[in-house]
Amino acid sequence: MAKIKSRYVCTECGSVSAKWLGCCPQCGQWNTLHEEIEAPPAPVAARSVVRRAGKSPAALKDIKSEETARLVTGIGELDAVLGGGIVPGALILLSGDPGIGKSTLVLQLASAVCGAAGTVLYATGEESAGQIKLRARRLGIDAPELLIQADTYLDAVLKTAENEKAGLLIVDSIQTMYTSDCDGAPGSQGQIREGTNKLMNFAKSTGMPVVVIGHVTKDGAIAGPRLMEHLVDVVLYLEGERQYQFRILRSMKNRFGSTNEAGIFTMSETGLKELLNPSALLLAERSAGEAGSAVAAVMDGLRPLLGEVQALTSRSVFAVPRRTVVGMDYNRLILLLAVLEKRVGLNLSTQDVYINIAGGLKLNEPAADLPVALAIVSSLRDVVVDKNTALMGEIGLTGDIRRVPHVRRRVQEAAKLGFTRFILPRGNKDDMGRHTYDVVYVKNLGEALRAAFKEE
Ligand SMILES: Nc1ncnc2c1ncn2[C@@H]1O[C@H](COP(=O)(O)OP(=O)(O)OP(=O)(O)O)[C@@H](O)[C@H]1O
Ligand SMILES: [Mg+2]
Repeated sequence: MAKIKSRYVCTECGSVSAKWLGCCPQCGQWNTLHEEIEAPPAPVAARSVVRRAGKSPAALKDIKSEETARLVTGIGELDAVLGGGIVPGALILLSGDPGIGKSTLVLQLASAVCGAAGTVLYATGEESAGQIKLRARRLGIDAPELLIQADTYLDAVLKTAENEKAGLLIVDSIQTMYTSDCDGAPGSQGQIREGTNKLMNFAKSTGMPVVVIGHVTKDGAIAGPRLMEHLVDVVLYLEGERQYQFRILRSMKNRFGSTNEAGIFTMSETGLKELLNPSALLLAERSAGEAGSAVAAVMDGLRPLLGEVQALTSRSVFAVPRRTVVGMDYNRLILLLAVLEKRVGLNLSTQDVYINIAGGLKLNEPAADLPVALAIVSSLRDVVVDKNTALMGEIGLTGDIRRVPHVRRRVQEAAKLGFTRFILPRGNKDDMGRHTYDVVYVKNLGEALRAAFKEE
């Protein structure tokens, strides 16, 4: 009889060990190694099935292209992120932090496509059917073609989807499902790998699109083997700060569309709502005309977004002054402060500096350097940046202002919201072409300060 072997797999990084260890030698996390029983090798007769004749190749020019209609969800932001709708037979992985709104989004998706796709099967291993009903009632969803199956046995779910000839299958979540083809508890590496494989084969053989929810680990990576991200066609990520109402849906991988699009939603009691003009909402409560406030035009994928940068400097009572940031990279702030000290001659070593990006927006783009720097100077000198001025530019270590991509789009978005004056990097002059905007081109921090504060 074949000997049953076991191995220990880390749930955080996926590394494998022959014996149990308290601390994973690969990622250093504690209590993350879990036992997995390796299935005994299949009998020779079964294995030989794999050694079939194989398929003969075909010339590319002779292959018919599989141009099939996409399933349009009607949720504009979701369609845009998916590249124009759901492709038949696609396996879509939706991931995100706990409680961010994944189940809400898929329930809204299920209800939106019910008519067009026919029956939709929503299989849940996380909640009971009654809990889904409660959520559906709160969201105002009452779709007769929507089937809910509260089951954790993946094989049974696939059987139902096949029998019902569903137009879309939703699995919430892969970590709660188990399949009989693999030993190990639901959520183990082997189960997730095998489950994803099964869903992939099912989607490709039936042409039924499948949306599967995946959890994230403490570091924000999708839990389970990285292989899962390679297997699926689309990886979507729903993110946002829980205390703010914004939710951003991004695609980290898309075999059928661009990964530059991002969908912006707001979370409310009646579910996720598309946000058609996010910049207006981000700037709605702006402290225009106050010292320490500047408006940044940044890109989120291919969409320009305007956000308010708030800076506060105050005399430090500590030997080492404090630097606190919300919404931007801490190290970037330290770099900007060093450039301001060295190139502009500001004395910031006795000042505490606080930066807040209003509305929960995250500025991870170098184009936000100039607005951050000017907001700091505005607070320090107690002078106001003109409230109708929008800024953008990357700051180099020599204090030079470097060009930013998509400058016209940013300016157009800002102009739509009533901004009339723009401080832009000199390097973007050619990109702007002919225009009627009031633009000041600057090549270093000194020029930018003069333009912003109208200094002599
Ligand atoms: N009555 C309500 N009013 C407003 N927002 C609500 C209400 N009930 C729930 N929510 C929002 O819905 C979120 C939970 O949504 P959902 O269950 O879809 O998240 P999830 O990502 O599926 O969570 P999990 O990781 O637990 O599966 C809450 O964090 C909250 O923001
Ligand atoms: Mg959920």
